[in-house]
Amino acid sequence: MKVTIVGAGAVGASCAEYVAIKNFASEVVLLDIKEGYAEGKAMDLMQTATLNGFDTKITGSTNDYSKTADSDIAVITSGIPRKPGMTREELIGINAGIVKEVSSNLIKHSPNVTLIVVSNPMDTMTYLVHKTTGLPKNKIIGMGGALDSARFKYRLSEALECPPSDVDGMVIGGHSDTGMVPLTRLATRNSVPVTAFLSEDRLNQVSEDTKVGGATLTKLLGTSAWYAPGAAVSGLVQAIACDQKKMFPCSALLDGEYGLSDLCIGVPAILGKDGLEKIVELQLDDAEKAKMKESAEGVKKTNGLLDV
Ligand SMILES: NC(=O)c1ccc[n+]([C@@H]2O[C@H](COP(=O)([O-])OP(=O)(O)OC[C@H]3O[C@@H](n4cnc5c(N)ncnc54)[C@H](O)[C@@H]3O)[C@@H](O)[C@H]2O)c1
Repeated sequence: MKVTIVGAGAVGASCAEYVAIKNFASEVVLLDIKEGYAEGKAMDLMQTATLNGFDTKITGSTNDYSKTADSDIAVITSGIPRKPGMTREELIGINAGIVKEVSSNLIKHSPNVTLIVVSNPMDTMTYLVHKTTGLPKNKIIGMGGALDSARFKYRLSEALECPPSDVDGMVIGGHSDTGMVPLTRLATRNSVPVTAFLSEDRLNQVSEDTKVGGATLTKLLGTSAWYAPGAAVSGLVQAIACDQKKMFPCSALLDGEYGLSDLCIGVPAILGKDGLEKIVELQLDDAEKAKMKESAEGVKKTNGLLDV
């Protein structure tokens, strides 16, 4: 199992670390455009192998895609992150060119690869990769919902004053401050709906805090977050690498599902050895359907800025 991660910055390196610690991949290649950067991150991470007890071999490469040849899975984190006060959508000008070039280079050396797109604006970048690479649609997956759902569960556990592991829940829709659709109606604490414990006002607050989860951290950190994003991507990588058939909300190319088509947006999906193996269609209520429709309109507006 060979995993390539393009972009050895904050999210890419964090993802490499979690993949290695979970010890399911034989090889991780970090690739970056900055001279020596990926090699340095790879060496630093390899020096944690005996400390953290993993056997995954991590190597680095400065923009040499021959080192990524025959990767099973590749993660695209290359591009610029947002600064405080910026939206993810504002990154499109720079990141679209980077993501297009990186995905094409990856496929040249690994024609059977499954791509996981992380760079923002992620739904639009995932759509761009679908439109420009010709890879089958099950092999292109956007990561956003897995992170947003982890943030949702964190906020719910805070409101419920309980451990996060007691909580289950999911965020679908676009990966943006306004587009996320936290499914509070379906969230549970040990299978009891959270609506049994929390008032409507408190749940609305949880939803709003979840939606601006990334912006809150960007303001605190001066750049966007990396631990939870890296961990979330590593979960998707593991589900595919180990054929787990796990369900994550992922940005998928829709063709009529949820009444939407010709865009990538977060919906529950089953991940296994064939990548995105199935989209799960939930029975949404009218309010959730309306939010999903509005979210899709936002994503389509950003897609309209692409030159494809
Ligand atoms: N989808 C999500 O849930 C999610 C979460 C967090 C961050 N992000 C996004 O992920 C991206 C990376 O964030 P970060 O915090 O790791 O940024 P970062 O600046 O720490 O790392 C980005 C890396 O990409 C490299 N890079 C730039 N152009 C490249 C190219 N053409 N080829 C190879 N490498 C190249 C840079 O040298 C840098 O090391 C950003 O767009 C950010 O908005 C997405």
